[in-house]
Amino acid sequence: MNYLQHFQLSQEPFSNAPVTRFYYNSVQHSQAMVRLMFAMDNMRGLALCVGNIGAGKTTLARRMLEHMPESQYEAALLVIIHSGITASWLLRRIALQLGVESPAEEKLSLLSQLYQRLVYLYEKGKKAVVLIDEAQMLQSREIMEEFRGLLNLEVPERKLISFVFFGLPEVDQNLMLDPPLAQRVALRYRLDPFNLESTEAYIKHRLRVAGSKKMLFTNQAVERIHALSGGVPRLINTICDNSLFEAALMSKHVADRALVDKAGQMLGLDRDLAESEAISARRKAGILAPGESTAGKITMPRSDVRRPSMSEIDSFLRRYGKA
Ligand SMILES: Nc1ncnc2c1ncn2[C@@H]1O[C@H](COP(=O)(O)OP(=O)(O)OP(=O)(O)O)[C@@H](O)[C@H]1O
Ligand SMILES: [Mg+2]
Repeated sequence: MNYLQHFQLSQEPFSNAPVTRFYYNSVQHSQAMVRLMFAMDNMRGLALCVGNIGAGKTTLARRMLEHMPESQYEAALLVIIHSGITASWLLRRIALQLGVESPAEEKLSLLSQLYQRLVYLYEKGKKAVVLIDEAQMLQSREIMEEFRGLLNLEVPERKLISFVFFGLPEVDQNLMLDPPLAQRVALRYRLDPFNLESTEAYIKHRLRVAGSKKMLFTNQAVERIHALSGGVPRLINTICDNSLFEAALMSKHVADRALVDKAGQMLGLDRDLAESEAISARRKAGILAPGESTAGKITMPRSDVRRPSMSEIDSFLRRYGKA
């Protein structure tokens, strides 16, 4: 059964597919965007955008890429597919994405091609920017040193290439593999989860884009969605999707708190929430067990913890015409 007809929607409002049409410019995303764009516009070198699983980092990276006009930028988005990538793979990939036609196998020749390309772009008045998604998978010192090398390429008034690393908070530790690189971070921004207000606005926005004429969740339902999801957009989508499905099954035209609770239970999110609430109550009472912490705790329906396949990634990269 499909709930679109029941709610008179033209498309799925809460799909987790990264559809840019559904982009919601939340306070959290717009604050991040302003800062990251500033850093790239001024070729500040290395900027960092960290956030927990499902916070919207990839969505933001794609949005940023769309916001960099071709007349001013030679920009690319590179997704790190696994932690075993080598420094030479990375350099070749960066070279390719920035328009080096046949990147050499041998490192010095490759660096020379890359340098020539960067100078060419500079002379054309273009900024070379590479957005790196899943940057927590960059886990070797050799790779970090390579980035440092690239960031050292500069003309008197600015750098020839700039990067934004998007990734889980572990990125910070990975950068410490090369302290001089860590010191070169010009800007660091943490993409926080949505607050209650943004959660409500986000839900309304997605419903509107999907063709709904009215809000399909009660106020109490929204409060519960926020509590169960912790304001994480991917979880908000999953809860809303499940709640609407359940509402349609019961021929209801609005999802209330009870339906959201049911969806949360089916997804196992109520247990996670109860657990973290118990921990914070113990913390407040000063009886937190050693090592017990909710910091960095990430709740996620298991079915959603999925890394894209190689072919998905390739088609993703092709869509930007850069692969
Ligand atoms: N600002 C936004 N507007 C619309 N949808 C969003 C926004 N942010 C996140 N989403 C939704 O949440 C889903 C998860 O976001 P995204 O994939 O960007 O998170 P992530 O931080 O990259 O997650 P991961 O850590 O797993 O890589 C997206 O597919 C999208 O549907
Ligand atoms: Mg992502």
